[in-house]
Amino acid sequence: MVAQVIDGKAFAAKVRAQVADQVAKLKEENGITPGLAVVLVGEDPASQVYVRSKGKQTVEVGMNSYEHKLEANTSEEDLLALIDKLNSDPAVHGILVQLPLPKHLNEDLVINSIDPAKDVDGFHISNVGLLGTGQKSMVPCTPLGCLMMLREHHGSLSGMDAVVIGRSNIVGKPMAQLLLGDSCTVTIAHSRTKDLPDVVRRADIVVAAVGRPEMVPGDWIKEGATVIDVGINRIERDGKNKLVGDVDYASAAERAGAITPVPGGVGPMTIACLLANTLTACCRANGLPEPEGLTA
Ligand code: GUN
Repeated sequence: MVAQVIDGKAFAAKVRAQVADQVAKLKEENGITPGLAVVLVGEDPASQVYVRSKGKQTVEVGMNSYEHKLEANTSEEDLLALIDKLNSDPAVHGILVQLPLPKHLNEDLVINSIDPAKDVDGFHISNVGLLGTGQKSMVPCTPLGCLMMLREHHGSLSGMDAVVIGRSNIVGKPMAQLLLGDSCTVTIAHSRTKDLPDVVRRADIVVAAVGRPEMVPGDWIKEGATVIDVGINRIERDGKNKLVGDVDYASAAERAGAITPVPGGVGPMTIACLLANTLTACCRANGLPEPEGLTA
């Protein structure tokens, strides 16, 4: 079988267009412009690239973007004071603090100081609890993007066997909750899992989110399975820098029914879902109906 390629770049463009339509409607009918505040502490080059991209795409869909760039040695007190200000600013519907934070700042404390209703990353402990109990929450962007692609490809996921490789708070755990919410039978596998190849071979859906280049070979993939590759790993091959996923794409594509490429798969969906979450937060804050097809 030769896998269908799930084009995340095209799907993300569709999501952004849907968000832009809804934003235009909100402005016209309600006089409201959704606003997203992004806080960057320090000068991590990768974080600077992400933050720039987030700001640009926020403006492109017609939302207001508020960027707060703080010195690497910013005190916890000053960062918490800024979050407090953003929490009470009615023009700000979403707040994202770019991670990782410099080592002297307590990440959990900072994340949990964000108003859960504005926590567009879905990292606040209240949102984690709401998701885990199947209640309305803000859902982390990368798993939400994966879920949207799976729903688009399959329609219903009910009864499917899904394995999530990786147990991070940002991807693995919320991904498992979302798949469970869509009535999959879910296994969370990790570095201590016994016989990982066997676990993966039983899965109709494989979500790989471990951050290890090409660790899942094609012969672990069940014929016809759907493979969602969350990994973005920079490697050097034949003297050139290359981006690869957690799955060995060439061999997996020979067995899978559908597969996301790296780059151009899950990656572009993450920011698209951040914009969708900001729109959702704005609608909820104003007592308006949530946008259809853009939430879990
Ligand atoms: N750093 C890398 N990915 C993310 C993300 O999804 N959200 C935040 N806040 N920081 C990140």
